[in-house]
Amino acid sequence: MSETKPPTDAAPAIALDGITKTFPGVRALSEVSLALYPGEVTALVGENGAGKSTLVKILTGIYQPDGGDITMDGAKVAFPTADAASAHGVTAIHQETVLFDALTVAENIFIGHAPTNRFGLIDWKAIHDRARDILDGIGARIDPRHRLSELGIANRHMVAVARALSVDARVVIMDEPTAALSQKEIEELYELVEKLKANGKAILFISHKFDEIFRIADRYTVFRDGEMVGEGTIAETDENALVELMVGRPVDQVFPKQAVEIGGPVLTVSGYRHPTEFEDIGFTLRRGEILGFYGLVGAGRSEFMQALFGITKPSAGAVRIDDEIAVIRSPSEAVKQGIVYVPEERGTQGTITAMPIFENVTLPSLAKVSHRGFVRMAEEFALAREYTERLDLRAASLDQPVGNLSGGNQQKVVIAKWLATQPKVIILDEPTKGIDIGSKSAVHAFMSELAGRGLSIIMVSSEIPEILGMSDRVIVMREGRIVDELPRADMSAEKLVRAAAGIGVAA
Ligand SMILES: Nc1ncnc2c1ncn2[C@@H]1O[C@H](COP(=O)(O)OP(=O)(O)OP(=O)(O)O)[C@@H](O)[C@H]1O
Ligand SMILES: [Mg+2]
Repeated sequence: MSETKPPTDAAPAIALDGITKTFPGVRALSEVSLALYPGEVTALVGENGAGKSTLVKILTGIYQPDGGDITMDGAKVAFPTADAASAHGVTAIHQETVLFDALTVAENIFIGHAPTNRFGLIDWKAIHDRARDILDGIGARIDPRHRLSELGIANRHMVAVARALSVDARVVIMDEPTAALSQKEIEELYELVEKLKANGKAILFISHKFDEIFRIADRYTVFRDGEMVGEGTIAETDENALVELMVGRPVDQVFPKQAVEIGGPVLTVSGYRHPTEFEDIGFTLRRGEILGFYGLVGAGRSEFMQALFGITKPSAGAVRIDDEIAVIRSPSEAVKQGIVYVPEERGTQGTITAMPIFENVTLPSLAKVSHRGFVRMAEEFALAREYTERLDLRAASLDQPVGNLSGGNQQKVVIAKWLATQPKVIILDEPTKGIDIGSKSAVHAFMSELAGRGLSIIMVSSEIPEILGMSDRVIVMREGRIVDELPRADMSAEKLVRAAAGIGVAA
């Protein structure tokens, strides 16, 4: 049994003891222990690369530990396969859940464990009815017959949650479940967590967002560099103490932006509209400026940015770059004109996972490190090193394939790659999503320094402290339109929230 001392008398639903996992060149987990109790939420926190997702993969039979024990009901268990873990009632919503675009919502929920009728055939009616029930139970208004490819990112996530709940679970693991959800869906997820607790499930909850950890967790466990460095009850700790355990030193959560002299107009957008997503978007971005775009998820910010970058086609709109009329019909035309866009969903779109980190970073900048058609490896490496170090990337070496990095470190690779092209304008969509509290201030510091060197930044963010900390000016969007614009001196959390939600200022 685990030696961890439970504050309640209940026996753990599952206990891990002395778990070790090594990858070539990396000790991802070093004799860690963790116990999960029925009816309780345990938050697992730690920096990017600390070993959280590795532990989840061991708990769900995806990876095999090199050593250590897993115990349930006082007996040792082993999860040689994912099915073995499900058979023991351990289920997870992963950081990157594998869903299938070509299948329907119901098929995605039940793939691998579809109910069958008395002839042993897949019972489609039962599948659709049960999918409907599970989706209703989590407040997701999604038609089980729709194809997954028709859903947006938030609804896809709800499907992943439904999938995890479709097996009869005792232990539910959520790896950064709210990263892609809107505020309303996040509230619904918290309610769901409450329901699971009330049903006696043991929940492991991984998150980089401290507000939610303090809201829903009963206990915490902290990992640092693959070791368990602290655990206890949430009631007996606070945010600063947890961060210090995680990082090993006290941290400022948002880097104080350095004052930058703002130059002339670099990008002027006017009359951008789209039949369904946004209307009449116009603004000017100046040299060295960080322009925040705040709004609730679904306000049309990302959709507008994708049109500006040439991914989708607006129905009208004009762009001037350095006071010249510019035509952007595709991302490659945008890049040629010095505009790059780092999307919110970086996990799947942003990198070639089998390729080393340094090649991923330099891929769009190869012209800069080539001479007469030959890539100069040393320069290529130096470029990759500079940008990844500044973003606090944690990797054993830059030769490592990106696919071996932790989720947050993969995000940093994508940001490094686009910053290294040294564009005029960079659009960063939720730049610190999935990035730990310690690295966040490194990302902010680097953004601020690059702005000081003349880079103009559009920062789409749903995090108010990030908007307030980093923006020279903020534009607020709601339902596809610009509803407010505030200079730095005039910004406040209350004004942002009111504008984004369409609530007037109290008299
Ligand atoms: N398949 C693999 N091959 C090699 N190294 C790996 C592999 N999977 C994980 N690692 C390494 O193990 C360490 C722990 O990674 P893990 O994904 O568990 O981190 P994490 O705590 O989930 O981080 P994040 O907050 O960024 O999601 C990292 O150094 C990572 O590069
Ligand atoms: Mg992870």
